[in-house]
Amino acid sequence: VRAAWHTRYGPPDVVSVRDIATPAPAAGEIRVRVVATTVNRTDCHYRSATPWPMRLFTGLRRPRVHVWGTEYAGTVDALGAGVSGYELGSPVMGYLEGRFGAHAEHLVARADGPISALGRDVDLAVAAAGTEGSHYALASLARAGAAVGRSVLIYGATGAIGSAAVQLAALDGDEVTAVCAGAHLDLVASLGARHVRNYEHDDLGDLDGRFDVVFDAVGKFEFARARRLLRPGGVYASSGVGPFGQNLLLAAVGPIMRGRRVLFAFPHIDQSVVQHLARLIESREFVPLVDRRYPLTDIVAAYRYVETGQKLGNVVIDVAPADSRA
Ligand SMILES: NC(=O)c1ccc[n+]([C@@H]2O[C@H](COP(=O)([O-])OP(=O)(O)OC[C@H]3O[C@@H](n4cnc5c(N)ncnc54)[C@H](OP(=O)(O)O)[C@@H]3O)[C@@H](O)[C@H]2O)c1
Repeated sequence: VRAAWHTRYGPPDVVSVRDIATPAPAAGEIRVRVVATTVNRTDCHYRSATPWPMRLFTGLRRPRVHVWGTEYAGTVDALGAGVSGYELGSPVMGYLEGRFGAHAEHLVARADGPISALGRDVDLAVAAAGTEGSHYALASLARAGAAVGRSVLIYGATGAIGSAAVQLAALDGDEVTAVCAGAHLDLVASLGARHVRNYEHDDLGDLDGRFDVVFDAVGKFEFARARRLLRPGGVYASSGVGPFGQNLLLAAVGPIMRGRRVLFAFPHIDQSVVQHLARLIESREFVPLVDRRYPLTDIVAAYRYVETGQKLGNVVIDVAPADSRA
């Protein structure tokens, strides 16, 4: 089977497409024929080993993992011993927590891990983009205590995490104010934001003290700037650790800070999270935002585009047609 393969850390062109052995599902595993996957910021961080400590997880000198890729949608291709409840050829979506391998025509996943069956009429290119950004968004919104009727500001509302956060917070009944570039205000309003603001010409000065939650989805709006927008008791969360890890530090001293606090969410994904997202995708209540699509053979170009930091939502890799059977 074809896969995007690499043997060293570095820029996008360390990756090349080649044939590898078809993986066999072990007991308790499902082999999935991948229809679509994404290139996301997680793949970029690990591929380039940036920041350096990423190497602690995937190999100090060289990567132990040779195929990146976290999220995917495809069809069930083979079942390992002891796996039941999945029909061969039926659609699934999922996330390869801690093991990667989605940038390939076939992958194997734990049947009891972050995977879910999908309805047959779901667009698998959209479902493929349904777990990475959204589980970061869900974790931060939950940690920050976003809840029905709360006033939530989402900064960087056009990214993979931001565009999922706007939709998921609005679905939960939050009153969402989304901040993005002027060219994308209509797009972000269509995702469910009640109010939209353009960060290019707007210092948000009239919004002081308005929000229960400020979520910086793109790592561009530090607590020092966000603090004044929070109500007393309000919470700031970010998708990143911030300069010098300051968000982790501020979160650690959170309990002794009076008034407005920083909370940091370590993302969590398991089968119940993926099933929740799959049901929302089936009902089209949550539609992962897809920007450009590239064939697997052009994955280097996809990496380059993601690393501009200007993608809108998600960049999908089309691995195989949805209706063929390998
Ligand atoms: N997604 C992941 O898998 C992942 C995993 C781990 C960590 N992270 C971190 O989380 C952050 C967000 O990731 P992401 O994948 O959601 O980002 P992304 O999709 O790469 O974000 C791109 C969007 O950010 C917006 N943007 C760029 N500069 C901005 C600025 N100064 N102010 C506000 N918006 C700006 C741009 O939209 P406009 O043109 O509208 O500004 C662009 O559409 C990154 O720092 C990333 O390293 C992401």
